[in-house]
Amino acid sequence: MNTTRELIDIADKYGAKNYLPLPVVLNWGRGSRVRDVDGREYLDFLSCYSALNFGHQHPSLVGALTQQATQLAVCSRAFMSEQLCLFERELAQFCEMDCVLPMNSGTEAVETALKIARKWGQQKKGVPPEKNKIIAMRNNFHGRTITVVSFSTEDLYRNGYGPFTPGFSIVDFGDAEALEKCIDENTIAVLMEPIQAEAGILIPQAGYLSKVRELCTANNVLLMFDEIQTGLGRTGRDFCFQHEAARPDLLILGKSLGGGLLPLSAVLAPKSVMDVIRPGEHGSTFGGNPLACAVGREAVRILREEKLSARSEELGKKAMARLRELSFPQVKEIRGKGLLIGIELKGSARPYCEKLAERGVLCKETHDTVIRIAPPLTISEKDLMDGVEKVTKVLADPS
Ligand SMILES: Cc1ncc(COP(=O)(O)O)c(C=O)c1O
Repeated sequence: MNTTRELIDIADKYGAKNYLPLPVVLNWGRGSRVRDVDGREYLDFLSCYSALNFGHQHPSLVGALTQQATQLAVCSRAFMSEQLCLFERELAQFCEMDCVLPMNSGTEAVETALKIARKWGQQKKGVPPEKNKIIAMRNNFHGRTITVVSFSTEDLYRNGYGPFTPGFSIVDFGDAEALEKCIDENTIAVLMEPIQAEAGILIPQAGYLSKVRELCTANNVLLMFDEIQTGLGRTGRDFCFQHEAARPDLLILGKSLGGGLLPLSAVLAPKSVMDVIRPGEHGSTFGGNPLACAVGREAVRILREEKLSARSEELGKKAMARLRELSFPQVKEIRGKGLLIGIELKGSARPYCEKLAERGVLCKETHDTVIRIAPPLTISEKDLMDGVEKVTKVLADPS
């Protein structure tokens, strides 16, 4: 068997360098624990950026996956599948939305929502295609395709990828007045994350999301929430928008919808909006395949039956309370909702994440200065608090 060092050398030689991972090479995971190839065990405090809300290898998700794999894994979208039909109904009912359009990655779901919004803008709002405008937020993260990075405000995500897709305007996240000023008669949609996780767990002031909802309603503009990272229990509610009762028109889900086992994303919308898409106008070979749908159904069932959103809220409060009990000169702010917690430092967070890895806790800096803490929602209270204790020790003595 190869050692960590040997495998890192292999990746250095053969892999693209589009990530800068910590020097840890994993080959096992159960619940909130993972092991590296040298047999060291860690707590997973990152959860694959919230794709692992149910932890690694949740038994009933693995059961749904293996059962469906031996039944019917993939079928042409030229036919229907039992799992797809049931998944669509169960997800729509869970989200209290009319219709579902399943895709694979989160970025694809965002692209899908943009396509739906543009068609709706032309067909239902009557905005000419060359004039339609979608408003996105400064510091957004919605994925990596050329259209999606067209409205990123992060140079790193855009450098060298132009020319970009036109039709987007940017306003400051959290500034409802700026949004109001930016909305005009050609505005068809507003796209935002209710908490900007990749930007460093940026949480808007209370009342902002409902104000955005009001503005969109008043101006006949579609509100699209990207809950790919914040949805499915992560912030202590099934969906982050429920903290403010600011229900979107389009809801975009991904990551944990696939149960931490495979890619599955979806856009949910009212019938009057979804019906702008006609047969042949959009699709995906693997989008809505029976294997992914069987897992997605089970993911929704577990979230509801194991009451993971309430658990996320309760555990998140305990972790935040402990972190806030102590004061560290290098910590600027500790903020979070549910089990999505950011510790913002005055300097680089990378050395702290490296130290934490050495001490058996895996997390990763986001936007250089923020340590993100986002363990599986199924983590035991003991493991969570043990990990938090290690974080406090590393903050107290990073050497
Ligand atoms: C809010 C948000 N939107 C979209 C994406 C893109 O999802 P994917 O990497 O599955 O394409 C991510 C991924 O981190 C995300 O956090």
